Order: sequence, then structure tokens, then C-alpha cells
Amino acid sequence: MAHGDFDHTQDNVKPAASNGIAPPSFPLPLPDSPDTITANLVLLIGQTPDPRLKFIYQLLVKHLHAFIKESNLSTDEWMAAIQFLTRVGQACTPVRQEMIFLSDVLGVSALVDILNSPVMGGATENSVLGPFFTEDAEDIENGGSIASDGKGEYMYVEGRVLTTEGEPIAGAVINTWEADDNGLYDTQYADRTHPDYRGRLHSAKDGSFGFRAIVPLPYSVPVEGPIGELLTSQGRHNIRPSHLHLMVEAPGYHEVITSFYPDDCDYLTSDPVFGVKKSLVVKLEQVDDDVEARKRGFPKGGSFKLLKRDIVLLTEEQLRFARQQVIRESEKLYLQTKND
Ligand code: BEZ
Ligand code: FE
Repeated sequence: MAHGDFDHTQDNVKPAASNGIAPPSFPLPLPDSPDTITANLVLLIGQTPDPRLKFIYQLLVKHLHAFIKESNLSTDEWMAAIQFLTRVGQACTPVRQEMIFLSDVLGVSALVDILNSPVMGGATENSVLGPFFTEDAEDIENGGSIASDGKGEYMYVEGRVLTTEGEPIAGAVINTWEADDNGLYDTQYADRTHPDYRGRLHSAKDGSFGFRAIVPLPYSVPVEGPIGELLTSQGRHNIRPSHLHLMVEAPGYHEVITSFYPDDCDYLTSDPVFGVKKSLVVKLEQVDDDVEARKRGFPKGGSFKLLKRDIVLLTEEQLRFARQQVIRESEKLYLQTKND
């Protein structure tokens, strides 16, 4: 048998099989226009057993088809999109999630986050996690340092972990990480031997925490892959505004993954990944007091910047309640548009 010929006699050939779902019992017109394709698919998806999934599928198809019709998408443009999405998938590895990064630069991650984390009781809002969090940050004492000395401008970070009622949360685990004075995370160095510019500490009895860090700098998101291509083709810059990442968790409370953004950065309003929220913009205080600098453990003394901010956590119960309200609102909106 010539190479490439099919051998239909092989035992492992399985005949075409149905997935067990019968053709619909309701009539469907033969597609003869763009609108019939949309209408037929919406009717077919109407068979989705799960009501929430049915709602999502039908809305997605309506919007996706409307986009294609409104933009009069050409075959070449559609193929370019398919090839781009294929490259995004191919760029994913166990340690790199280019799909999430695509969602980030399209503002989708930020939108999903805003909808799922309603602003409530002054709770600290979320920001993007990003690809540079690691599990191996070293434990530091309250008041300790997350950064090896000798680089960057001194910054002291302090605040309290609180409930929405202003009660202290003791023993909250605070993970924090930032880029170094080159605008690079430790994981971006091929010769990384130990975690740096990151640390893990616990809030004290009165909820207070404090640590030494460096004043963060703006830095580039990873652009050597397809997302870099996308940003360039849209005429968008690739620089994230300066920020310090924090992840705070305590039993019974909803974990917050956030960042604080100093207010003097040029990139604040055009963050490529939409991580900035108004409530997360902070003013760094300039402290020109050698004694105070040494008291806080800065080895060279002199002056430092102070980032003072409390972190307010929602209980799991508070978050569940707020999320249910958001879902009810979106379903009300859908029923309204259906009846229009
Ligand atoms: C970051 O802040 O580290 C980041 C967030 C989203 C995408 C890329 C980087
Ligand atoms: Fe970051």
C-alpha cells in the first residue's frame, strides 16, 4: 500500500458516530441570508440545558455575528484573526499564559474583575495579577525588607489590614512583589538564584504591617510574542505604570490581589493591561529625616518615600451577596433587550 493511502481494514478505525443528540424537533429555515444563520444558531443554542450557559452562548453569538456583519469582515481579515489567535495559543507554555495576557490588553480581564468585585464598604479593589507572582517569596518580619540593598530609591510601605467596619485583621498573609531598579522582576533574570524584590509577612495584632521596598518604576510588559505585535499594530505603548503588587489573605475573608500605583507616573491612564483603578492611585510622601530613615532600617539613612495605605478585606459572605446582585442585574438587562 502506497504511503498516505488509507487502510480501511484496520481494527482501530471507528465509524462516524452520533453524539446521541437528535436533530431538533422544531422547524428551522434553510439559511439564505446572514440573519438566518444567526437566528438558526440562536434557536439551536436554545436547547442548552444549563440556563446560565444558554444565556451566555446566545448573547455571545448575537454580539459576535453583529460584529462580523457591522464590520463587513473580509475573508483575509478573518484569516488574519485566526492566525493571530493560533500564535497566541502557541506562545502559551506552562509558565507563560499568553491567552490571559491577550485578555489583559483587550481590557477583558479588567472588565470581568470589575463586574465580579463590586466596590463595597471601602474594600480594597483588585488589580491584575500579572505573570510575575511566585510562590517562593521569603518570609520577612513585619518591618523587614523585600529588596536587596544598594539599588533603587528607598520606599517604606505601611498600613493596616482591616474589615469594612474598621476592625483590625490580625495574622493576614501579605505577599508583595515589584520590579527592581532596572524595571525587571527577579524571574526575568536567567541567572536568578533566589527570590528578590518580593516577600511574605503577617499583619500584627492591631492589623498593622510595614516593610522596606524601593520606589517602583514603569516597565515593559512582555512584548516579544503576539501581544507585542498587537500593541504595535494598534499604536499602543507597552509600558505599565509604576506599581507595587500585593496579595492579602486571611481566613474567612476574600483574598485581594491588588497593586498600588504612585500618582506621579505618566503611564497611569494608558496602562496596557488596565490594572489601574482610581482608588489604587497613591501619593508617596517624601520623608527627609535621617533619624526616621534609620529607625525604619534603611542602612544608609537619609530620606525615603512613604507609601501609607490600609487594606480592607470583604468577608466571603459580603462578596457572595454582592456578586448575586450583579448577576441579577445582568439577567434583568438581558430580559429587557429580549423584549425590545
Ligand atoms: C504586571 O504587572 O506584572 C503585569 C500584569 C499584566 C500583564 C503583564 C504584566
Ligand atoms: Fe507588575
